[in-house]
Amino acid sequence: MLIILVSFSIVFYYFINSEESKNEISLFSENKTIVASGKLIYDDQCASCHGINLQGQEGWQDKLVDGLRLAPPHNEEGHTWHHTDYHLFMLTKYGIEEFLKMDYPNNMPAYNNILTNDQIIAVLSYIKSQWPNHIRIKHDQLNKLFKEN
Ligand code: HEC
Repeated sequence: MLIILVSFSIVFYYFINSEESKNEISLFSENKTIVASGKLIYDDQCASCHGINLQGQEGWQDKLVDGLRLAPPHNEEGHTWHHTDYHLFMLTKYGIEEFLKMDYPNNMPAYNNILTNDQIIAVLSYIKSQWPNHIRIKHDQLNKLFKEN
């Protein structure tokens, strides 16, 4: 009985801790069903700031409103694609300050109480599906490097 309990706890512990490890988080920008559901989530939750066509808010590069930065684009003109799947996931789920582990006032909500993990993966998969092929390839390479190290 004890052995069963102990092995169960080990498996459970492993499961909890690996769920968000860097190797467990991957986007599915080639999966049409996931991308389609991600688009609905994007339109509902992200488009008001990041733009219906992923174009970001006008002046995002240099303008501040109330001392805060504007929402950057999620298309190839922004820097979303400079971040790995894992980083995009963590940043969207826990918010930018929690992600950076420092004070960084911004108005991007943390989505951990709004979207499930699968919904966050879906919305980011949709964003990735909108990048041109050469950017998606670069992003795949970035993920590969990150996961290998
Ligand atoms: C209320 C406005 C707002 C909403 C809604 C919003 N964001 Fe943001 N987001 C921002 C702002 C502003 C930034 C940039 C903050 C900064 O750098 O100071 C940002 C940054 C980001 C970044 C980092 C981009 C980069 O290049 O570093 C990601 C990824 C992101 N948002 C994803 C999302 C997703 C996915 C959603 C919807 C589920 C979403 N955001 C909804 C305002 C918003």
